[in-house]
Amino acid sequence: MNYHDEYQQSIEQPEVFWRKQAEQLKWYEFPETILSQDEHGFYRWFAGGKLNTCYLALDVHIEDGRGEQLALVYDSPAADSQRKFSYLELRDEVAKFAGGLQSLGVEKGDRVIVYMPMVAEAVIAMLACARIGAVHSVVFGGFAPNELAVRIDDARPKVLLTASCGIEFSKIIEYKPLVDQALESAKFPPEKVVVLQRPQAQATMQSGQDYDWQELTNLAAPAEPVAIDATDPLYILYTSGTTGLPKGVVRDNGGHAVALKYSMKAVYNTDPGDVFWAGSDVGWVVGHSYIVYAPLLQGCTTIVYEGKPVRTPDAGAFWRMISEHKINTFFTAPTAFRAIKKEDPEAKLLKQYDISSLRTLFLAGERLDPPTYDWLMEILNEDPQSAIPVIDHWWQTETGWAICSNPMGIEPQAVKNGSPTFPMPGYNVQVLDEEGQVCKRGETGNIVIHLPLPPSCLPTLWNDDERFKQSYLSQYPGYYLTGDEGIKDEDGYIFVMGRTDDVINVAGHRLSTGEMEELIAGHPAVAECAVTGIDNELRGHVPVGFVVLKDGIEISQDQMQQELVAIIRREIGAVAYFRQTGIVKRLPKTRSGKILRKTIRLLAIATEVVVPPTIDDPKILDEIREVMQERGIGQYSSA
Ligand code: COA
Ligand code: AMP
Repeated sequence: MNYHDEYQQSIEQPEVFWRKQAEQLKWYEFPETILSQDEHGFYRWFAGGKLNTCYLALDVHIEDGRGEQLALVYDSPAADSQRKFSYLELRDEVAKFAGGLQSLGVEKGDRVIVYMPMVAEAVIAMLACARIGAVHSVVFGGFAPNELAVRIDDARPKVLLTASCGIEFSKIIEYKPLVDQALESAKFPPEKVVVLQRPQAQATMQSGQDYDWQELTNLAAPAEPVAIDATDPLYILYTSGTTGLPKGVVRDNGGHAVALKYSMKAVYNTDPGDVFWAGSDVGWVVGHSYIVYAPLLQGCTTIVYEGKPVRTPDAGAFWRMISEHKINTFFTAPTAFRAIKKEDPEAKLLKQYDISSLRTLFLAGERLDPPTYDWLMEILNEDPQSAIPVIDHWWQTETGWAICSNPMGIEPQAVKNGSPTFPMPGYNVQVLDEEGQVCKRGETGNIVIHLPLPPSCLPTLWNDDERFKQSYLSQYPGYYLTGDEGIKDEDGYIFVMGRTDDVINVAGHRLSTGEMEELIAGHPAVAECAVTGIDNELRGHVPVGFVVLKDGIEISQDQMQQELVAIIRREIGAVAYFRQTGIVKRLPKTRSGKILRKTIRLLAIATEVVVPPTIDDPKILDEIREVMQERGIGQYSSA
């Protein structure tokens, strides 16, 4: 089938289309209904079906005779270590650890928090939860104890899984003290913590609370997969919203397995036996979908990489990985390649490796900016005989798989630089203006998806149906609001230009400026503040804070910055990359009192800034520009 026909069928006959895809999986009970609505009116896929995601990711391939094939490769330049697991070995490890969780009292529906570095055990932990129907919630290892505590209190886990440390380049980050701090401040701490002791650091264990990972596994009886309802949650993944409270995106078992398996062919054009590498972290959605679940559902070999694009040991790290593990499909964030380009602009290190196994390079997490696309095309396509397509695709934690992509496994389309190409089957993507009218082709508007969303997309938010409605469904009835703005061009290509809310993307990490503002506003000297994401060549965006002091407070610019940087680092984590602030006399506002954050952002990056007609006093812009110059913010930076 060509892309157009497949897409049309998915929109006009979604139930026929997704039934066909669901038939590709081995269900315990095939769903009675394909699409239905629950008691809240939310769409649900495959209600009544029973399956087990871990069984589909591991056992099925063993039953099909692929037991000896490599399922997972762990490669860690950080720990100078490698491990390989066949499907049989991985299944056995997962079954044992699942048994270990059961021995701690974990049952179907219980939540388990996973706060781990990029080690094979993180994948084993997630699959083990799936095997027994426990709901995992992975918290990115770069988040501070406060962020972990917030997630613990929302998910109320029975058990928390962690490791003694993570390794950032060569820096050892001890996790256990961070976990202990989070447990102390959480209102609903789990009673049990399982710790993977790594050779680089020894965690101090508390008797009665902490269990040694290895001992637990050694003593456990392997667990069989249990039948789970398709609509039961597989995991909760917290993601940044507009406030300090992250949104708990819920992923169900049935829709997720169906859509992810479908995506492995339709989007990535992979087949069983291929080697697939998503260079991300299990703490992010890319890690959930394309390090853990999708490659295994498709019978591929997946890679867990504990390293960086650069300095582990050099900017040839990715090329070394591709060559050594004969990777066929590689997926990472543009920021990673910007880091490589900075250190090795002529890609000299690429010449040291044979990357002929690589068929396609996929990028997501942020817009693939045209200069990075051009550079990648140049270095990967010197020889037209072995040209490697470079594919941007757009998606979100909420969807779990690509909303727009070049459908490489259906019918590859011509690439337009700066566009993630077309909507994937199942996604009826529209661009609407503020009044809800469809924008003319080429006009910028809010990107929305007509309901129902396809399988794998969030059915709701954990414990918060109201917030789900209000955040995503209320602005345009009948549509899901993506929070991104962009255009659909004459040929139907979608261009995603950026967020319309307080979400920013810092080195591929999704963060909330709203949350940073809440924290800064808590500083005793601050009367009001605005945090805005300013364009940054390497990281995409970096957050910068502007504060107005309370009357009578005297504090220097440097002192204020030092204190605010410390607050964000302590409360959110180093990963927020909050490094710069400026004290200003006033913030630009509309006459109705709304802070003009976009105008502040433009002042930092553009020489000409159109004064918004709604501003109450245009002179404020000159004052802010002066502070930016003085503080070296944005375009005034000397770096
Ligand atoms: N655990 C603990 N700390 C972490 C962390 C983790 N998992 N990840 C990042 N940090 C810390 C870093 O150590 C650093 O701390 P520091 O300020 O004390 O030095 C800080 O957070 C900022 O990190 P980062 O923004 O990652 O900067 P960097 O200079 O360490 O690395 C890149 C820059 C571009 C190499 C790196 O950000 C990168 O590889 N990005 C790609 C991200 C990605 O693939 N995202 C997936 C989305 S698809
Ligand atoms: P996350 O939920 O962390 O995956 O972040 C999702 C957000 O990242 C999206 O809403 C976009 O703002 C941005 N994003 C991800 N991929 C792309 C892309 N290919 N092009 C443009 N923006 C992207």
